Amino acid sequence: MEKGIKKVLITVDEINNKVKELGEQISKDYQNKDLLVVGILKGSVVFLSDLVRNISQPLLIDFMDVSSYGASTHTSGVVRILKDLETDLVGKDVLIVEDIVDTGLTLSYLKENLLSRNPASLKICSFLDKPERRKADIMPDYCGFEIPDEFVVGYGLDFAEKYRNLPYIAVLKEEMYS
Ligand code: IMP
Ligand code: MG
Repeated sequence: MEKGIKKVLITVDEINNKVKELGEQISKDYQNKDLLVVGILKGSVVFLSDLVRNISQPLLIDFMDVSSYGASTHTSGVVRILKDLETDLVGKDVLIVEDIVDTGLTLSYLKENLLSRNPASLKICSFLDKPERRKADIMPDYCGFEIPDEFVVGYGLDFAEKYRNLPYIAVLKEEMYS
């Protein structure tokens, strides 16, 4: 196992099965829709690249990069847009793809922001969900796995920009934080 990893929480096989299942469900739900998949950089890119290959509908892909104002002490949920979409959302069926919903503050801001651009519909697909930590009233419409309140890495998720390339979801050793 990779240095610094305490345990594997979700295996490669479990991930593959779940992503296939999500892709099939999304393909069904978006038949005859004008699907635009919006990935939130950078955490969602591994999940997004697997997910879109399991969606049989024609679709467009675009990306946004956001950062929260202030650190975790700041609970306003106001985020700064570092990179905006290139696609006009009017008439599009938008599916936001995220790595994890934690407090939900990022997604609740993004949802409001994208809704103001008049898409035909807007839904959220998050690979992971940590419901215990929620501060904003938001639920992903599609979710891979609910996990307990532990800091996880891998499959796109990072600690200090590392571990994104791990093919599984893992819990870090406590000593990695100190
Ligand atoms: P929130 O839902 O606004 O609190 O923020 C979600 C963002 O925090 C995610 O997109 C991740 O970038 C980051 N995040 C939250 N929990 C974790 C975790 O356990 N591991 C890695 N990143 C996390
Ligand atoms: Mg993120």
